[in-house]
Amino acid sequence: MALQFTTAIRGNFFDITACVEEPQQLDERLRHIPDGLLLLNEGTIVWFGSWQQGEALLPPGFAVTEYRDKPIVPGFIDTHIHYPQTEMIGAYGDQLLGWLNNYTFPTESRYGCEQHADEMSAFFLRELLSNGTTTALVFGSVHPQSVDALFTQAQTLNMRLIAGKVMMDRHAPEALLETPEQSYRQTRALIERWHGKGRLGYAITPRFAPTSTPALLAQVQRLREEFPDVWLQTHLSENPQEVAWVKSLFPQNQSYLDVYHRYGMTGGKSVFAHCLHLDEQEWDCLCETRSAIAFCPTSNLFLGSGLFDLKQAWRKRVKLGIGTDVGAGTTFNMLRTLGEAYKVGQLQHYRLSAVEAFYHATLGGARALSLDDKIGNFNVGKEADFVVLDPAVTPLQQLRYANSATTAEQGFVLMTLGDDRNIYRTYVDGKVVYEAPR
Ligand code: GUN
Ligand code: ZN
Repeated sequence: MALQFTTAIRGNFFDITACVEEPQQLDERLRHIPDGLLLLNEGTIVWFGSWQQGEALLPPGFAVTEYRDKPIVPGFIDTHIHYPQTEMIGAYGDQLLGWLNNYTFPTESRYGCEQHADEMSAFFLRELLSNGTTTALVFGSVHPQSVDALFTQAQTLNMRLIAGKVMMDRHAPEALLETPEQSYRQTRALIERWHGKGRLGYAITPRFAPTSTPALLAQVQRLREEFPDVWLQTHLSENPQEVAWVKSLFPQNQSYLDVYHRYGMTGGKSVFAHCLHLDEQEWDCLCETRSAIAFCPTSNLFLGSGLFDLKQAWRKRVKLGIGTDVGAGTTFNMLRTLGEAYKVGQLQHYRLSAVEAFYHATLGGARALSLDDKIGNFNVGKEADFVVLDPAVTPLQQLRYANSATTAEQGFVLMTLGDDRNIYRTYVDGKVVYEAPR
């Protein structure tokens, strides 16, 4: 039967063909097709290869969208971000626990208002798309209506988005607290309403151990047992004071991660943000349970939380994605986030290459979310989420780009100097959802 397709795109494609167990394998999995052709049937990739090979598949006169020399890459995947913190990004002067009390909780308390949640959902999704991010794992506020607003709008765009309402029942302002039973009921209703609807997924979202009583964690465990297919997201071992606080709140547990593990929260669809101060056993537990880490470099530097150990993550074979962690993180932009990841590596004598960084932001992130069968590269059968880049848009970028000898150098310069101005177009489900103003 003849190949069915609705869209043909020609450009300079880059992706990683398959997941890897060590960074040394990445160079051979990097696929660069300088003059490539991508054929889509609506939102699905049905053919990918060189223009030369693919041209004959096109019926006479079939419209081809030509990007010529522009790099086209899989959509970026943000594995940790808070949408109700968008308007407080860049809050001055505190580390984690003070920052939560002084800025985060007051800001999140506004999301009980449906109109505010609607307006901010639109703003938030536009920020993601204008930065080339096509999939994210997102924290809502404690209010179920915050997540309803976000999912409703993501559904209109047909984005592959995972989100959940925060669960918390202690150590936060009264207005943001719920009972464990309420938290269970509201989460359950949201799972039933949204999980698996189109491309949307639900993540059970206990904020972190300090805002959870054992009774709340027991409700999390109950939800995990009733809905084994949904995701789970939380924070782990971000800040030394936080780690000490968890120790005092849960003295019977061996470690911070042990608290989560005992309540059945680890697993192949669990994503733990930060993981900066883990002991050996915690690392092993993440590996054994197939849990994933969200590495959030701009947040870790901004809040002075610590330096993530990428080398150890490879050594322990723990799945890993990149998170912007807005509003503790200081940008929605994945290029800028990767540039900061490089600096975190430098402070520990780890040389993060452009190819490795690109992997973490695309296919590696997809694997961290257990979505690598659906997104993350241009393999046939995958969903058509991708970004067309403009590699040099400022005089300085143009000068430096022209002065780059290899594509690896160009890629590294892009992650060092790049930002949202380098996003030319974003495609979700085979359709243009963002176009740079020119
Ligand atoms: N730990 C608990 N809540 C939060 C949050 O909102 N942001 C960050 N960075 N860490 C947290
Ligand atoms: Zn966070």
